[in-house]
Amino acid sequence: MNELFQKVLAENSILLFCYLIGSITFILGLKMLSHPASARKGNLVAAAGMLIAILATIFLYRTENMSHLGNYAWIFGGLLVGGVIGTLAAKKVQMTAMPEMVSLFNGTGGACAMLISMVEFNKIMEHHPEEMHRGHLLIIVLGAVIGTVSFAGSMIAWGKLAGKIKDKTIPGAQIINFLLFAGIIGLSIALVAGFATTLPVFYAILTLAAIYGILFVMPIGGADMPVVISLLNSFTGVAAAFGGFLYDNPVMLTGGILVGSAGTILTILMCNAMNRSLKNVLLGSFGGAKPGAAGAAKEGGGTYKEISMNDTATLMAYASKVLIIPGYGLAVAQAQHTCHELEKVLEEKGVEVAYGIHPVAGRMPGHMNVLLAEADVLYEKLLEMEDANDQMSSTNVVLILGANDVVNPAAKDDPSSPIYGMPILEVEKAEHVIVNKRSMKPGYAGIENELFFRPKTSMLFGDAKKVLQELVTELKQM
Ligand code: TAP
Repeated sequence: MNELFQKVLAENSILLFCYLIGSITFILGLKMLSHPASARKGNLVAAAGMLIAILATIFLYRTENMSHLGNYAWIFGGLLVGGVIGTLAAKKVQMTAMPEMVSLFNGTGGACAMLISMVEFNKIMEHHPEEMHRGHLLIIVLGAVIGTVSFAGSMIAWGKLAGKIKDKTIPGAQIINFLLFAGIIGLSIALVAGFATTLPVFYAILTLAAIYGILFVMPIGGADMPVVISLLNSFTGVAAAFGGFLYDNPVMLTGGILVGSAGTILTILMCNAMNRSLKNVLLGSFGGAKPGAAGAAKEGGGTYKEISMNDTATLMAYASKVLIIPGYGLAVAQAQHTCHELEKVLEEKGVEVAYGIHPVAGRMPGHMNVLLAEADVLYEKLLEMEDANDQMSSTNVVLILGANDVVNPAAKDDPSSPIYGMPILEVEKAEHVIVNKRSMKPGYAGIENELFFRPKTSMLFGDAKKVLQELVTELKQM
């Protein structure tokens, strides 16, 4: 017995040490993720820490009766299936479909937290219902509710982003959601306080939470989904942290808290960058604006002028400074490599080239940074919005590639515009503005862009990749 005790003690110290390593790697990894140059390594560092924590739990953790976890075939079978699916999905995903994938993966995190709570509640009911501890129950219920809302909401967010679920306004949605919320709170109190601690009540709470998750996300404009996903991500983190409390597992607790707080900070940053409150995102219609709605794109808003490929090439070849503004369309066209080629051709001609990056250009945080990093564009060339704006008046040519809202002057000039107040890239301070997109259609916010009709602006229509290829060819011949 003494020998076993010594062994358990030694194993427990190693297990705790592994958890400490895991927690430290999560913090370091997250820190490294904040800079594109170290982001890849940061991801690997945190993943290595996670692997150590998982293996340590599988082989060193001891249950109440001092035995190891066992069930190795199930555990490793699950790890294999999940690992293969995750690897294939991550390898195959298009950059533009990244928010969907994040949403799907986040949903599985929420489902995990929900399942953990289900297992633990069933265990209590089967084995020791009389020794039920209220604090323990509270943690189980909180993990179950938050995990279920996150799971159901993430699945709807994924469906919307993948175009499988349309934006739907549900009549009386706010009242229904309020009633659902009140129902969840009421039943949870009854369950935790011991008035109705039964399996049917627990499953009723889970059902209400799932409906709440669905109805909460359903009316939100598909285009606002990245903010919602970030919010749901923070929910999953909090639910996982409750799992950490439940199992007295420090690494799960640290991981959950980090995800919860990072998700919350990201949600706030995204809202700030769009100059909108979270309430406005959750209840407003921005991004869901349909033509004909207030501020939506009008037909034939004015006259615009087009520029030929040859004139564009000439203007750029004789410029001393060119600023490229990438947007969602560049990602759609997958034109990042051709864009880098354009940069190199221009630099060979002695033109100074930089990129102006708006914080919410594209459809997810850091979208443009990741896209351009994929094409080996030097990080030093990416100017944050404030720095790009400082350089605008000394720039000869601004080339806008598939960006729209982030350069829309209505954000500054038109108080009735849904994007009023959002900081923008002030391209008009430059000498010439060339806009590449395929048509005069609006961008994400569904509103017209007056920039396209201004005297300094010329439109260069076409798919970004095709246009850039032609531009590079033209420049090489000069
Ligand atoms: P958008 O305003 O969405 O404009 C993108 C433009 O790209 C469209 O007007 C489209 O015009 C053009 N386009 C599409 N495919 C193209 C292609 N193959 N070749 C060339 N052009 C193409 O994009 P943005 O300026 O990057 O602004 C991002 C928007 O997303 C902002 O409103 C922002 O608030 C919102 N948002 C961003 C985030 C994050 S975190 N990034 C999160 C939530 C919301 P055509 O159809 O005429 O080609």
